Formats: sequence, structure tokens, C-alpha cells
Amino acid sequence: MPGRRGSSVKTVSITSGVLFLLITLTAKERTKLSTREPVQIAPAEGKLGILIPGIGAVSTTFIAGVEAVKRGLGQPVGSLTQLATIRLGKRTDNNSPYIRDFVPLAKLDDLVFGGWDIYEDTAYEAATNAKVLDSSLLEQVRSPLESIKPMKAVFDQEYVKRINGPNVKTKGTKYDKALALMEDIKNFQKANNISRTVMIWCGSTEVFHRPSAVHETLASFEEGMRRNDPEIAPSQIYAYAALMSGVPFANGAPNLTHDIPALLDLARERGLPVCGKDFKTGQTFMKTLLAPGFKARMLGMSGWFSTNILGNRDGEVLEDPGSFKSKEETKLSVLDSILQPHLYPDLYKDLYHAVRINYYPPRGDAKEGWDNIDIFGWLGYPMQIKVDFLCRDSILAAPLVLDLVLFLDLAHRAGMRGIQEWLSFYFKAPMHAPGLYPEHDIFIQLMKLKNTLRWMRGADLITHLGLEYYD
Ligand SMILES: NC(=O)c1ccc[n+]([C@@H]2O[C@H](COP(=O)([O-])OP(=O)(O)OC[C@H]3O[C@@H](n4cnc5c(N)ncnc54)[C@H](O)[C@@H]3O)[C@@H](O)[C@H]2O)c1
Repeated sequence: MPGRRGSSVKTVSITSGVLFLLITLTAKERTKLSTREPVQIAPAEGKLGILIPGIGAVSTTFIAGVEAVKRGLGQPVGSLTQLATIRLGKRTDNNSPYIRDFVPLAKLDDLVFGGWDIYEDTAYEAATNAKVLDSSLLEQVRSPLESIKPMKAVFDQEYVKRINGPNVKTKGTKYDKALALMEDIKNFQKANNISRTVMIWCGSTEVFHRPSAVHETLASFEEGMRRNDPEIAPSQIYAYAALMSGVPFANGAPNLTHDIPALLDLARERGLPVCGKDFKTGQTFMKTLLAPGFKARMLGMSGWFSTNILGNRDGEVLEDPGSFKSKEETKLSVLDSILQPHLYPDLYKDLYHAVRINYYPPRGDAKEGWDNIDIFGWLGYPMQIKVDFLCRDSILAAPLVLDLVLFLDLAHRAGMRGIQEWLSFYFKAPMHAPGLYPEHDIFIQLMKLKNTLRWMRGADLITHLGLEYYD
């Protein structure tokens, strides 16, 4: 056989035309990763319950936004599930359906919202206080927002120092509180005739803590909750309650939460998809756009100084050094993973990377993030780049919440369990299997996300090799 370059079939003796045809097809398939059977995906029938610990700026902007889109009052800008297309086949095929038409996602009309907060404010009051959306828009979605009254929260001020509120569960051990959350979930599902449920943490950032012995196994975790182990954070009790109730879980904050063996094993055991941590919205979003570009061109970097001012409740919570430490860890890890200084010591080993966040009430949710980037080029000549992003935190986060709940529900119906690395696209500190480094490059993340959707549907994966156009 006139062997193709790199083909592994040269040594096969050809005895029939049929076999020859098979081998030719295989060689072609290798450039586009072969079509396979689609994954069985249960239909998105009935209501999808979205349960949210933390009825604050992000969650109310998300809920109000969905209600506004349903009424034709705005566009779901920033949401892949609502606006993005996915290319299928070759570039010459001109086949790019909407993602929402390609995979069976829950419809916005089928979403039902509920949640917990330490404050008693309804979602309408919380949205009004957050001052993200105009009051004229909020008035038009007032009724569905007013009907969302937060359930009593599981809260521990050791984990969020700067706030305290009256709407909390006070009775019993941490284990009793987990059972009470499971009861809340059951009641919410029953009252709203829910078919499926997803939980997403939009609560405040908890203080930094590391995995410890109590987080190792489900048995040690449950035993720890019974004796009120201080290493078990409220967000971990919500995650446990969700997983025990058969509910997929996502974490929008940098907290440790379910990134511990006990809860990851529980998710796998129960066949539940999970993902996290920390929505990738303002400054880190910019970092993951810019840093892969500098590295792609083999430009060096000696410093990246990032500072933020923000005046919402999130900013107030982050004034506490413990909560800031959680945020700092996720924000700092990004550059190291993208730039790989161990592979490129001459370009990145001396990088000085600092992140600051300051609470500055006049700005409210309209954060300002400044970046000063010191890069160097040919023969080490230095250059500077300044970025000043006048962003709106919750406006950037809301579409991420929507996509995450819809994709997690899809993954669940597709029988996918454990960490969903294909959802790294949405996170500052993507969860990943032990021994792997996280993928932070947003363009690789997007390719991974879209290829996972193609894989689910049995479509050809797109490698961007493109040799077939020049055959
Ligand atoms: N907005 C963004 O761009 C963005 C980006 C990445 C991460 N985040 C994270 O998302 C989370 C929400 O941000 P936000 O701006 O909506 O903050 P927010 O302060 O407006 O809302 C958080 C809410 O969580 C509540 N809460 C705290 N602990 C709780 C508990 N144990 N149970 C139930 N409720 C609890 C608070 O009372 C508050 O109402 C924060 O952790 C933030 O760091 C936001």
C-alpha cells in the first residue's frame, strides 16, 4: 500500500478491496477524530429547579435577567447556551447550529428558582439593594422576584466575618443542619412540581481553609458534621445536602467547598456532575485572554500588578483577610498555569504577580480593575501594557450562572459524573482530577467545551488540523 505519511497501516498486507477501503477510511478519520455513537441523553422534560445559596447581587441579577429575557425585555448577552453556535463538520459545510438546538437544554420557561440567605429580603428586595439593574426593569419582573423568599441559611460567622443576619438555622449539629437543608430541597421540589434540580453556590466568599483529615472520606465528613468539626464550612454542608439529594452542584465562589475527596467521591458514587470554582468574570477573564497571547508569541513577562476597587457586599466581605486569601489563591494561580515558568524559565521564572482588592463603596457593583503588565521582547527590551476595565461584576456573572445550570443539568441527563472539566471555561480556578494541571487558557477551554458537546452528540470532534482542505 502506498503508505500515507505517519500511517500505521503500511505493514498490513492487503488481500481484499474491502479491507483496503476500511484502511483508507481509517486514515481519513484520523484527521477528524471519528464519529461515534451519540451519548444517550434523557429529554429535558418538566421543570428544572435552580437552588441557590446566596440571594445577593449575582443570583438576583441572574434570576431577574432570565425573567426579563422571558418577557422580551432584554437579550441574554454573554450566554453561550442562548446565543452561541457550534460548527459541525468541515468549514465548507456551512453547518453551525445554535448550541441550544444542537443539545437538548432546559428552556428558560421551565426554570424555577429558590434559595437560601442569612437575610430575609425577597429576591426583589435583594436586587433593589444590590443596585445592579435599573428600578424600571426590576418593576417589570417584580412579581416573580417577590415570590422568592430565601429559606433559612446554614451560616457560620467564622467563615464569613463581615456579615451577619437573622435568617439562619440555629438548631442542632452541622449534620442536623444538613438534614434540614435536604428537607428544604425536598419541600421546594414538591411545592413546585420539579422534575430535576441543580444547585449553584452564589453565597459570599468563605475564609481560606485547606483540605484536612475530616474531608478525606464520606464517613469522616459525616462524623465531623455530627461533632461540629470547625473545618467543615457552611458551603460544604450545602454541597453535601445537594449531592445526598441527587442534585448536581456548582460553586461560583473560590471556597474549598466540594473540592475535597469526601464530596467528590460522593458525587461519583451518586452519578452526579459537579464543577467549580469562582466565576471567571472581570479581571481574571482579561488575564486569561491576554496571557495566552503573550505566551503564544514567546514574549517574556517580568510583572503583572492587578488592583481592583469595588463597593458591593462582595467587596465588603473580601475586606476580611481570610475571605481575600481564598480569592487571592484563585486569582494568582491563573498566570502560573498559563505561562508554565518551569518550561520557559527565561521568559517567566522571575514574574512578580500581585493582586489587590479594595472595598470602595461609591462604586457599588461597577468595579474598576486596573492591570499593569511589564512584558519584554527581542533581546529583553521592556514594554508596558495598561488595562483599565470598568466592568459590572454581576452583569458579567449572570450569564455564566445560566450556562452552568443548563450545562450541569445536561451533563446529568447524559450520565456524566464527577468533575466536569469541560466547564472550566466558566471558572477562575477550574476543578480538575488529581495529578492534572488545570487548563486556564480560555480558547482551549472553549474548544474543550464545544468538543464535549460534539462528543455527546456523536459528531466529529474539531481539531483545527485542516489538512483535508488541501488534499
Ligand atoms: N460578581 C462576580 O463577578 C463574581 C465573580 C466571581 C465570583 N463571585 C462570587 O460570587 C459570590 C456572590 O457574589 P455577589 O456579588 O452576589 O455577593 P453578594 O454579597 O451580593 O451575595 C452573596 C449573598 O450570600 C449570602 N450568604 C453568605 N453566606 C451564606 C450562607 N452560608 N448561606 C446562604 N447565604 C449566604 C449573603 O448574605 C449575600 O446576600 C461571591 O462569593 C463572589 O466572590 C462573583
